[in-house]
Amino acid sequence: MTGGVSLQSIFAWVWNELARATCEPQHPFRFPVISTTSTSHGSNARIVVLRRAEELTHSLEFYTDLRSEKIGELKSDPRITWVFWDPSIQVQLRIRSTVTIHSDDPLANDRWRTCPTSSRVIFLTDWASGTSTGDEESPPPPLWPGRMITGEESERGRPHFAVVRCELNYVDFYEIAAEGQRRACFQWINDRWSSGWMSP
Ligand SMILES: Cc1cc2nc3c(=O)[nH]c(=O)nc-3n(C[C@H](O)[C@H](O)[C@H](O)COP(=O)(O)O)c2cc1C
Repeated sequence: MTGGVSLQSIFAWVWNELARATCEPQHPFRFPVISTTSTSHGSNARIVVLRRAEELTHSLEFYTDLRSEKIGELKSDPRITWVFWDPSIQVQLRIRSTVTIHSDDPLANDRWRTCPTSSRVIFLTDWASGTSTGDEESPPPPLWPGRMITGEESERGRPHFAVVRCELNYVDFYEIAAEGQRRACFQWINDRWSSGWMSP
């Protein structure tokens, strides 16, 4: 699946697939799990949508609510591990990164501008992500007012919008194959990637 067995070709394949996942809704790498450090219970993990993958800056991005628990966790410990899995080709990627949070700067403005209205809806809630609504009888009202919101209405969500930009420092590629598992690692050291094979 990688089109070759050299470390170089695997790394090129990884970046190509990550970039594809940002624009192909059905790509399995579009919905990775990210884990953070939690002060209350050691670690925390959840699915996000991969929004950007740039090989040149070796960075990944996702969007989130500035009020969410993960933002608090990242302010205490700016490290994220990403896990991607493509069952059709039996490939797992584990990626380590360090984040910067962008909410009120040109980068966040740029991503908000190109964020589709349908994706902005989630940022319009009055309740911070994860807080109790205080009503045990019924769930909160639907996010959508029975129709698609307009671009103008969606601007109300801007204060809650954050871009988490993650600078990668370690990529672990693991492939399950009939002839045996293959594992390779790529590490960002002294401003360059170094790579090697590992026992799976
Ligand atoms: C398919 C899928 C995609 C999701 N995408 C995002 C996302 O891009 N950003 C995000 O903050 N939460 C996303 N979520 C919700 C998170 O998994 C999580 O429940 C929420 O962000 C609260 O996490 P936290 O309490 O750890 O901050 C997604 C959930 C699913 C099931």
